[in-house]
Amino acid sequence: MSKRTIFRNPSVLSPHYVPKDLPFRDHQINQIVSVLSPALRSQKPRNIILYGKTGTGKTCCMKRIMEDFENSTKGSGDTKALIQYVNCRIYNSRYRILQKILKNYCPEADKSGFGLPFFYEKLLELVSDGKQMIIVLDEIDMIKDLDELVYTLTRSNDELSYGGVSIVGISNKLSFKDTLDPRSKSSLYETEMVFPPYTAEQIQRILSERSKEGFAPESVDSSAINLAAAITSQETGDARYALKLINKAGEIADFEKRNKITDRDVESARKRVEIDLTKETIVTLPEMHQLTLYSIASLAVKGSKYSRLSLENNSEQNGYSAPCYLFSGEAYEEYERVCNKVGKRARSLRWYKEYLSELEVLGLIATKPSGKGIRGQTTLIQIGQNAKDIQTVLDSVLFLKVN
Ligand SMILES: Nc1ncnc2c1ncn2[C@@H]1O[C@H](COP(=O)(O)OP(=O)(O)OP(=O)(O)O)[C@@H](O)[C@H]1O
Ligand SMILES: [Mg+2]
Repeated sequence: MSKRTIFRNPSVLSPHYVPKDLPFRDHQINQIVSVLSPALRSQKPRNIILYGKTGTGKTCCMKRIMEDFENSTKGSGDTKALIQYVNCRIYNSRYRILQKILKNYCPEADKSGFGLPFFYEKLLELVSDGKQMIIVLDEIDMIKDLDELVYTLTRSNDELSYGGVSIVGISNKLSFKDTLDPRSKSSLYETEMVFPPYTAEQIQRILSERSKEGFAPESVDSSAINLAAAITSQETGDARYALKLINKAGEIADFEKRNKITDRDVESARKRVEIDLTKETIVTLPEMHQLTLYSIASLAVKGSKYSRLSLENNSEQNGYSAPCYLFSGEAYEEYERVCNKVGKRARSLRWYKEYLSELEVLGLIATKPSGKGIRGQTTLIQIGQNAKDIQTVLDSVLFLKVN
């Protein structure tokens, strides 16, 4: 219990913590507040979409606004504005979203067996005395029947003489807009707000402010923060990644019983965070992708007797140490074997190629054509990360289920 630690308040460094101040987001916050504030005067706000890459502060800005909003309506007696946050990764259908929102106001909505019309009527009832309901749909692109949900919510406004329902949608998917039906698109995109990635200087300031609160005084070298910021901006400008990096660096320094986080800790943290992120990606892949990746990893680990292609001889001439490539044919055979082992039906080669290209998009593998001369024309596959690590992660996911 009395162990010394350089963490002063670890929860401040958690990705779920919502800081009081959100530097570099004043513009976005002010714009969103000005769009939503009519609700406080019983007028219907416009719908709004917040869009930006991962870790650009969309969720935390919205949570900050909600907290301030709730504080400003607290104690004012009969409040006319209601605001509800829904994480659509968890509540991913029209039914579940309406149920989630309504059960906060009428507990019986939590029971199963109610149809959609019940929720719809309850929603109308709730706002019909002139209330404005703002529904925040975070990760809105995860909703399976979004067009239907938008239709339902829009229709409720047509039926109401007083009160109304507005939507704040949040997404980090570039292609999301194109997947919508034109009617929902024009309804949702009444206002659009972009969250740009942070620059290295911005990340540096965000990190130093969080570190001041999260770590003991004087325990983080400023050069370590600068390095973490530089690495982050090289990668993506994702503040969540930057926080993970400094948090992990803190764990490393703590583990080694040092009282200062240095550049070296940030470098080691970078490797570990990468491994963690890869693990997260792999664990959440669909099963056929996992089987495909597993077969590639295990071939790379054990190598194959005759067709493993090592380009080391060539690479000596090029002056770099080339990784090991596999033929797609033998990888497919291995995939069939692995499927067999876990009692799954292997999909056709056409599907297999689909899995390969999706794994490549995620950066888990790389492929290239073999060029002429090596067993005719074929595709060469190379695993992007340490094959042994990938195999170990997947071993626990795929085979524990079987055993
Ligand atoms: N301007 C900022 N100041 C301080 N911390 C920030 C700022 N922007 C983001 N963060 C922190 O970065 C982390 C990620 O932010 P957030 O969850 O809001 O990202 P997001 O845009 O919602 O990403 P995603 O699209 O992946 O959901 C959080 O821990 C948040 O507190
Ligand atoms: Mg988010």
